[in-house]
Amino acid sequence: MMMTYRFSGRTALVTGAGSGIGRGVALALAREGAQVVVAGRRREPLDETVALIEQAGGKGLAVTADVSRAEGPRALVTAAVDRFGSLDVAVNNAGVLKGGGQAVGDLAEEDWRRMLDINVTGVFLALQAEIAQMRSQPDGGAIVNVASRIGVHSRLRGTAGYAAGKAAVSILTRGAALDHIADGVRINAVSPGPTATDMSLKPGETEAGRAARMRAEAPLGRVSTVEEVAAAVLYLASDDAASVVGADLVIDGGATA
Ligand SMILES: NC(=O)c1ccc[n+]([C@@H]2O[C@H](COP(=O)([O-])OP(=O)(O)OC[C@H]3O[C@@H](n4cnc5c(N)ncnc54)[C@H](OP(=O)(O)O)[C@@H]3O)[C@@H](O)[C@H]2O)c1
Repeated sequence: MMMTYRFSGRTALVTGAGSGIGRGVALALAREGAQVVVAGRRREPLDETVALIEQAGGKGLAVTADVSRAEGPRALVTAAVDRFGSLDVAVNNAGVLKGGGQAVGDLAEEDWRRMLDINVTGVFLALQAEIAQMRSQPDGGAIVNVASRIGVHSRLRGTAGYAAGKAAVSILTRGAALDHIADGVRINAVSPGPTATDMSLKPGETEAGRAARMRAEAPLGRVSTVEEVAAAVLYLASDDAASVVGADLVIDGGATA
């Protein structure tokens, strides 16, 4: 029997793909047949992601870029098209959490600005570059933004700046989805809860400490795995979700149920 994969022959771009959720998404896309451009600011982790993709029999291309400056996302889209001929899937996952634990009154202006620059303006600039390419293609494309359950879905003390930015990502996703579905560009978001990456560790917390905290606090009793979040991203990016437009899928083990 011939195996068919959902992303065979498609070109995908994943930002923040040198670690965590982005790396998991890039690997999952490659395993399902996509050639994947992996992006971030640091070279070495991206090369490691490409090595993992190649070990799994896939094709990857590492490109360094800062998504918070317009030339970053533009260069990423150009690299995808130059190397692989199109851009069919984009996952805007790059993001940062600054000043975690600090109340609004104590949050440094610089941390606020960095979060909004990368988490919000970075997604906006990436959308612009991706949409420009996808709407010029006969088959359009699909975009998935990574928001968070902290944002429109729930708030957590000490993360108001991060929440404001992620709420903007959730709302920007819906607006962009409405604006561009007629162009053949389908846009959705995922909103993960605590996921097994460094970002969900409190300052100084170990993985064992996080596991104990999750057992006590989380309805599911554990963090989500990177693979579980990636599976949701792949669903939204695939033709299985051809009529899903402007959705914001929460994957949080019941935290906001
Ligand atoms: N882990 C969680 O519990 C959780 C929950 C909800 C939402 N999220 C969201 O999921 C996404 C991925 O987070 P993660 O947990 O996988 O964290 P992570 O391991 O820190 O990954 C973030 C990635 O983004 C890249 N990045 C940061 N700023 C960038 C910029 N200006 N331009 C390009 N790349 C940039 C980083 O690489 P460089 O530093 O090399 O650029 C890094 O690889 C983020 O948007 C985060 O807010 C995470």
